Amino acid sequence: MTKVVSAVVFDAYGTLFDVYSVTALAERLAPGQGTALSLHWRAKQLEYSWLVSLMAPSPATGAIADFSIVTAQALDHAAATLGLKLEDSERNALLDSYLHLEAFADAPAALAALAPRPRWVLSNGSQAMLTPLVAQSPLAGDLDGVLSVETAGVFKPSPRVYKLAVERLGLPTSRIAFVSSNGWDAIGAKAFGFTTFWVNRTGAPVDRHGAPPDRIIASLDQLPAAVKAWESTPR
Ligand code: 2OP
Repeated sequence: MTKVVSAVVFDAYGTLFDVYSVTALAERLAPGQGTALSLHWRAKQLEYSWLVSLMAPSPATGAIADFSIVTAQALDHAAATLGLKLEDSERNALLDSYLHLEAFADAPAALAALAPRPRWVLSNGSQAMLTPLVAQSPLAGDLDGVLSVETAGVFKPSPRVYKLAVERLGLPTSRIAFVSSNGWDAIGAKAFGFTTFWVNRTGAPVDRHGAPPDRIIASLDQLPAAVKAWESTPR
């Protein structure tokens, strides 16, 4: 029996959009420390997303699964770590840059080649972050919708997040391909039941905390062929 990929769901930050495109602005604001600031910022942003999820986020606990809050908190920690005193205008400019991240060069053609399958985003980002980001990007015409973890009230890799795609698309997990450059995200999606494609642009080793992704590719350029190859292998 052959396998069918009826829809493709993409992670946003790191997969379709380059979170390190903030580095140029960071370097202008903190000469010589732009790379360190953007690396620490991203690492802390993800760390806080995992910690907040473990803290049973809710208005009662004060830990809210809002990526705009976590992103600002992470920036503040990164600046403090580097001894940077950012003006409010500088801090706001860095946070605003998350609404204008560059789409990876390999994303537009890959998305177009996967049509007419529905192609959706499923991201930690809040809807208020993701909607403008996608709208201003070259990907807008090739994405059918955006799902934010907001409605799940928890961040990835909680299965409650991946379940949003099943509910919205009305498809079984076996018919949904999930694509992420974040290895931990691909493993979480695999554990949930999606067919997973890890975009390993840096040649990093596979994370060990769960079953490995179904396919590992070096860029989104390879995704359409990898999906086709997956569909042609017997179940
Ligand atoms: C995203 O959810 C994991 O930050 C990444 O877009």
